[in-house]
Amino acid sequence: MKRVYIETYGCQMNVADSALMSHVLEDAGFRTTEDVQEASLVLLNTCAIRERAEDRVRARIRQLGQLKRIRPDLVLGVTGCMPKHLGKELLDRLPQVDLFLGPDSYRRLPELVEAAAQKPTLDLRLDDEDYSDLDPVSVEGVHAFVPIMRGCDRFCTFCVVPLTRGREKSLPLDDVIRQVESAVAQGARAVTLLGQTVNSWHHGAHRFVHLLDHVSRVPGLLRVRFTSPHPAEFEEEVFALMAERPGLCPQLHLPVQSGSDRMLEAMKRGHDRAQYRSLVDTIRRHLPDAGLSTDIIVAYPGESEEDFAETCSLIEEVRYDSAFLFRYSPRSGTYAHRKLRAEEIADEIAAARLQRVIELQERISHERYTRWVGRAVEVLVEGVSRRDPAHLVGKSADGKTVILPGGPEIGTLVRVEIGQATSHTLLARGVHEDDPVPGDRAVEQLEV
Ligand code: 5AD
Ligand code: SF4
Repeated sequence: MKRVYIETYGCQMNVADSALMSHVLEDAGFRTTEDVQEASLVLLNTCAIRERAEDRVRARIRQLGQLKRIRPDLVLGVTGCMPKHLGKELLDRLPQVDLFLGPDSYRRLPELVEAAAQKPTLDLRLDDEDYSDLDPVSVEGVHAFVPIMRGCDRFCTFCVVPLTRGREKSLPLDDVIRQVESAVAQGARAVTLLGQTVNSWHHGAHRFVHLLDHVSRVPGLLRVRFTSPHPAEFEEEVFALMAERPGLCPQLHLPVQSGSDRMLEAMKRGHDRAQYRSLVDTIRRHLPDAGLSTDIIVAYPGESEEDFAETCSLIEEVRYDSAFLFRYSPRSGTYAHRKLRAEEIADEIAAARLQRVIELQERISHERYTRWVGRAVEVLVEGVSRRDPAHLVGKSADGKTVILPGGPEIGTLVRVEIGQATSHTLLARGVHEDDPVPGDRAVEQLEV
């Protein structure tokens, strides 16, 4: 029996893509293994978003090159954004690798793996592949990732994604619904709809709000989230629907990148600070308890102390529950890399700015988490705590990790009282057994 081992780097879309590759290969007679030592095919599904992501993969390839010395029949493949980003030059630079595939080539994996066993093989074409018929769903316990669109049309100046994943493609509504139903049949109670700009999903006459309406009515599904939306693509109807539909979780990731209008313009983000603030106000009007998070890039080329101060003040004003904080990383092929090299910020300044936003956000996160102490929170129980098997891990509706005492069944909704908070976790002190959450929620159909 041929065995494949897949290692995933980067975003949730890659997690879903790895599950897709695993399905395609299993249909061709492979078995997926968790043990690299017993694999005849090893795939690294990679990320190119920042230089560090690529460095990690290079180090791993060198390690696996050692394994190939003892096992010359092993086929080593590198898939996803990194090969697409670095292109043909990789064939010469990484002689240990037999197969390079871009994100649109996974359907052809079985033939390409066969070819790679004979000679180094590379397939980096981008086309209108959406894998909709292959059900690219990744179910892990009671949660599933469901890609609903792929690629990105926005071309933010720092970002390599439009180059590595190509133009935006939305999956048809019926395919998404079928995939969500299949995820539920496999045990999922919560889904996260995925896309690079997930809220720009549209297909025929259907827009994102219609998709949310349909997905949230799939029987057996308790919770729906989506990531990552683009702030400039939202329609207010989405928040109105989220407010009335209990299964649509009030959790929103709103990447902002910078609080400075000058930087937002330079990054070609498509909105300014005031528009973003007004979006946050609209969200909080509809969903006062929404969990908000963001992505921030510090030290974008040309960022002044004043620009950076604007980012800090935006973080203070919005008061995010959490944030992904990055230092700008130049990516070849992007506008910023081509045109703004001379304005890159010195390492020490960039590192100091990153440290400052980390400390700022850590304090705010702690305050935002602490405000739940003493309150009752609805939690979907997702599994057993790895640190302490007597406890369970779940998620609050607004997206926080909650640790709760053992007892309730995995995959059910329970109400707990929060006793303690850190800046990343809520600790429940008790489960309200006599106050169950209805499992089957009747909902009205929205006119489409
Ligand atoms: N440097 C640093 N961070 C980046 N991101 C995207 N491109 C870069 C880059 N070149 C961040 C953005 C984006 C998140 C997924 O990764 O914040 O929202
Ligand atoms: Fe990259 Fe901008 Fe597209 Fe997000 S919206 S994937 S940051 S180009």
